[in-house]
Amino acid sequence: MENTAYYINEPSGELPQDLTHQIFSSSDARKFHSSLAQYKPSPLVELKEAAKELGVKSIFVKDESRRFGLKAFKGLGASYAIHRILEENPEIDIFCTATDGNHGRAVAWSARMLDKKAYVFMPAGSTTARVEAIRNEGAEVEVVDGNYEAACARAKEMSDRNGWQLVQDTATEDYEEIPAYIMAGYFTHFKEMEDSIHSLPEPGIDIVFLQAGVGSWPAAAAWYYQNRYGKNRPQLVIVEPAEAAGFLTSFKSGKRSSPSGNSKTMMAGLNCGIPSTTAWEILRNTATASMAIEDSFMEQAIRMLHNGQGDDPRVEAGESGAGGFAGFLALINDNRFAELKEALGISAKTRVLVYNTEGATDPQNFQKIINQTPG
Ligand SMILES: Cc1ncc(COP(=O)(O)O)c(C=O)c1O
Repeated sequence: MENTAYYINEPSGELPQDLTHQIFSSSDARKFHSSLAQYKPSPLVELKEAAKELGVKSIFVKDESRRFGLKAFKGLGASYAIHRILEENPEIDIFCTATDGNHGRAVAWSARMLDKKAYVFMPAGSTTARVEAIRNEGAEVEVVDGNYEAACARAKEMSDRNGWQLVQDTATEDYEEIPAYIMAGYFTHFKEMEDSIHSLPEPGIDIVFLQAGVGSWPAAAAWYYQNRYGKNRPQLVIVEPAEAAGFLTSFKSGKRSSPSGNSKTMMAGLNCGIPSTTAWEILRNTATASMAIEDSFMEQAIRMLHNGQGDDPRVEAGESGAGGFAGFLALINDNRFAELKEALGISAKTRVLVYNTEGATDPQNFQKIINQTPG
């Protein structure tokens, strides 16, 4: 079991009853987002041919690749958190964060909309396209000499020193309120499907693949599903890059732990260190399973979504955006996951949901991937 690329959990379904819970329960994110001029629900598309090919009943993709023109869903979280922060402290002028790309761009965009300033810290190796996308939103960007955790430490140090407002999307023991606002902002896209596959009393899907970085987004999803459906919630599978699998490591060791891999993956948004405290508390009790995949599955997923099967709509997915679908492909095609596939009861009746959380945020790499012939 130790070396397997997955973990099968026995979730209790219990949700923490703390400050985070209060913030989530009182989230009015959808109302807030609807008040923004750029707001539009993201499309939900069905891949009928792909479902036939992969042997399941249906595959739905919630496509976030054009959300707010930022090419990722993260604007939902940052904009709502900054709105909540300014409600309490309208005089704040400077926001700060660490990011591997999408969250930083979202913070910079949200600050710019309000004529505020943003400072963003990024890990070494961040691609030029992702750095420039944040600068283009008017933020100051510094690439630190270290990994994602080093960028987080630098953002905190600079915020403490200069009196900037830190808007970090990962929670630690003494920093949980703002990550909870960010997570509460993500609820908007789950609610957007309440007139289709998220209607009551049971969801129109059986299994959801959730790609995880620090875990705030998959945990927001898990909280939503547990809160809305209780024991009727769909099965939730966490997907991470093999070399940065903090949740898989945590599940296997039974406690929140840093990943042991070498952090080499093109899935930049998922290339994080230790899971967020809040996310771990939620996901340990709600996730059905956790799996780790190599980049080759992500590349295959990007090509499949881009090419479209038969008449299926084509979807532009970036490296992290394709993570959930890549997890599903690995489950179907890689024998290492045979036991997990069986445990999840995947069959011709299964209805699958994935979120394409990101479009081509690194266009050059995207082109490279779609031009490759599978080896
Ligand atoms: C495109 C994309 N998808 C998913 C995630 C995962 O979100 P989280 O870090 O909250 O787990 C990220 C995080 O940056 C991301 O950029």
